[in-house]
Amino acid sequence: MRTIRCKNYEEMSRRAADVIAAQLILDPKTVLGLATGTTPVGCYQRLIELNREGAIDFSEVSTYNLDEYRGLTHDDPQSYHYFMADQLFNHVNIKAANTHVPDGSNPDAASACAEYDHMVENAGYVDLQLLGIGNNGHIGFNEPCSDFPVGTHCVDLTESTIRANSRLFEREEDVPRQAYTMGVGTIMKARRVLVLASGEAKADAVRAMCYGPVEPGCPASALRLHPDCIVIADEAALSKCPEGL
Ligand code: F6R
Repeated sequence: MRTIRCKNYEEMSRRAADVIAAQLILDPKTVLGLATGTTPVGCYQRLIELNREGAIDFSEVSTYNLDEYRGLTHDDPQSYHYFMADQLFNHVNIKAANTHVPDGSNPDAASACAEYDHMVENAGYVDLQLLGIGNNGHIGFNEPCSDFPVGTHCVDLTESTIRANSRLFEREEDVPRQAYTMGVGTIMKARRVLVLASGEAKADAVRAMCYGPVEPGCPASALRLHPDCIVIADEAALSKCPEGL
């Protein structure tokens, strides 16, 4: 695990976009794994700028998102389908057919998850996986539990995640209680993983990921076993890690 220490959110976002841009320049047919949430928004804005400037091209890129709330249709403004279109896909020259998000509108969890696993496998898995980290150490919606889930599965969101995500909903009751998420096993199959973390609220999770035991109580700790994982984090997120990390 390599760590790139940044002053603040802006620097973290710029550096993350630089790593993704380098990947797209080296391999225009890259399979990107993408995340939603607040953390990657600045990185997506920078990628949009780089695409407008002609520095990077998405025309042959394909993307697979980590997760989606169960029960939301693709056009629901709270869905991750909608988020990705709004924050990235509608602003770059990616083909809509090349973008993929688990189908939260399919109530049959087993078939929605199996279908998604099949798609990711057929794509040859992800070249570069972008991740945020939850306050409780989750990646995707792999919540702390007693084992590391392998493939895409349906999860019950923890109270802490529901509370954290309620900031994006009108009322806490509106936050869906379940989601479909890629498993830790699939994330680990990505050839390179890029974890972003910003702000003091992430400091405990970042410390547990980088220094705690590798165990499913902190799903992000599995990344320590990944051969090419880069953490790009700001001072506040690294504030509980030893200096010089
Ligand atoms: C979202 C996802 C989650 C978020 C995490 C952090 O697709 O996979 O694991 O990355 O909950 O969320 P933010 O960035 O909003 O703090």
